[in-house]
Amino acid sequence: MGIWHERAARADCDGRALINGERVWAAADARFDNLSPVDGRLLGQVARCDGRDVERAVALARAAFEDGRWAGQAPAARKRVLLRLAELMLAHADELALLETLDMGKPIQYSLSVDVALAANCIRWYGEAIDKLYGEVAPAPADSLALVVREPVGVVAAITPWNYPLLMAAWKIGPALAAGNSVILKPSEKAPLSALRLGELAHAAGLPPGVFHVLPGFGPEAGAALALHMDVDSIGFTGSTRVGKQIQQMAGQSNLKRAWTELGGKSANIVCADCPDLDAAVQAAVGSIFFNQGESCNAPSRLFVERAIYAAFMEKALALVPRYAPADPLEESTVMGALVDGQQQQTVLGYIESGQNEGARLLTGGTAARTDSGGCYVAPTIFDQVRPEMRIAREEIFGPVLSVLCFDDVHEAVRQANATSYGLHAAVWTRELGKAVQLARALRAGTVHINQYDSDDITVPFGGYKQSGNGRDKSLHAFDKYTELKTIWMQIA
Ligand code: NAI
Ligand code: MG
Repeated sequence: MGIWHERAARADCDGRALINGERVWAAADARFDNLSPVDGRLLGQVARCDGRDVERAVALARAAFEDGRWAGQAPAARKRVLLRLAELMLAHADELALLETLDMGKPIQYSLSVDVALAANCIRWYGEAIDKLYGEVAPAPADSLALVVREPVGVVAAITPWNYPLLMAAWKIGPALAAGNSVILKPSEKAPLSALRLGELAHAAGLPPGVFHVLPGFGPEAGAALALHMDVDSIGFTGSTRVGKQIQQMAGQSNLKRAWTELGGKSANIVCADCPDLDAAVQAAVGSIFFNQGESCNAPSRLFVERAIYAAFMEKALALVPRYAPADPLEESTVMGALVDGQQQQTVLGYIESGQNEGARLLTGGTAARTDSGGCYVAPTIFDQVRPEMRIAREEIFGPVLSVLCFDDVHEAVRQANATSYGLHAAVWTRELGKAVQLARALRAGTVHINQYDSDDITVPFGGYKQSGNGRDKSLHAFDKYTELKTIWMQIA
């Protein structure tokens, strides 16, 4: 038994809500079981918060905002708290990483090196940014002074998904808290534990009680109560396009709260015959779709390969697949873990079946894996001979399934790449710089990668065109979602 198994046996999987700095069960005392997709073990129970808990948390958040206990602190003081929180997250990295792995099945090495590390970096970055943000002095006539200042929007709700639970929470609460807002975080019912622990660490870092609450529960209950609330000013959502549409409707039905959505994707990865490094392109194509078990909104799930290199590319790609065989997420060598739950596993297997029924060619995988583990695993799967009208070419699968299409004309590939309701990420591989930039401009996506797939960091915005959502997480642009611009016009003569 490895070290992480021993730690898992002792893990504190406290599923109580965090309201006003205290861990509490839901007002109605409803709870649900939290089963780990690693091996089916019962981790504990989670508070099933509903409208009553939302009422309480929003009232506390509003009162905290009004009395200025956080919003009224100097930016440098808020910065100190966020920097302490980032340090505490790193000090508790093992604990946070273990909760993430047990809750949603990703390999422990990535929970540590990706999720916890990037989430702490995100909190630190927004802490560091907040005392360097200047307002504007407008070019007003000589008898006037016109200032443009940024103010916190007030009470922010963050509704987050299960695929990167801690990191998505950090992308929302980092800029929202730095700007001085009160925040209510509703983590996914499928992976709430790391967000709850994050809330405790924020209080340990010196965040005043009342400013930040974490309410686990189901979407149509706790989530909808937040989206419909008349006293929530802005909502940052990451999840499915289906629910993103509902969030915007609920904002419109209630108080027109700002509704920011980061939704699904069906990102296209276009590899031209003049690709500068075929091995790197193959590694990125395979590694990026299988990373996080394929449960990434920006996963390059549609691969377009030019005919001249098609056979060589696919041979190299298939040779890499055994590396991604699902294994125990609690072993440090594992690179592919479990899907988040049995429901997601069934959804993915259903897509695989549809690909076979619609006439795509299954090259590898296609089945559940590690079936004697009690967990939720799917073998890395590659289809080729995929046609654009097939479901596996159009819909977000959110699992380790790659759909490969062959092309002769790169402009036709770009047209097909854009023929989707999504627009999150895209990539092109070519050694010709002018062609690369022209294609990058033609691709309708929030991020376009050239000759790489996963390099980006907190300094650049992340978000989608079309039905991949609106607004941007990360970078200074994220402050736009959680602040208002106020004009102050003074007569001075
Ligand atoms: P989801 O969109 O249902 O859940 C995301 C969040 O929204 C969760 O916190 C959930 O509780 C909440 N929610 C659900 N219904 C709600 C409602 N009526 N009102 C307010 N909040 C609500 O995502 P789900 O069902 O967990 O995953 C389904 C599919 O969504 C995945 O297979 C994938 O295709 C996509 N997805 C995309 C993500 C992304 O990163 N863009 C993340 C998670 C899922
Ligand atoms: Mg779970």
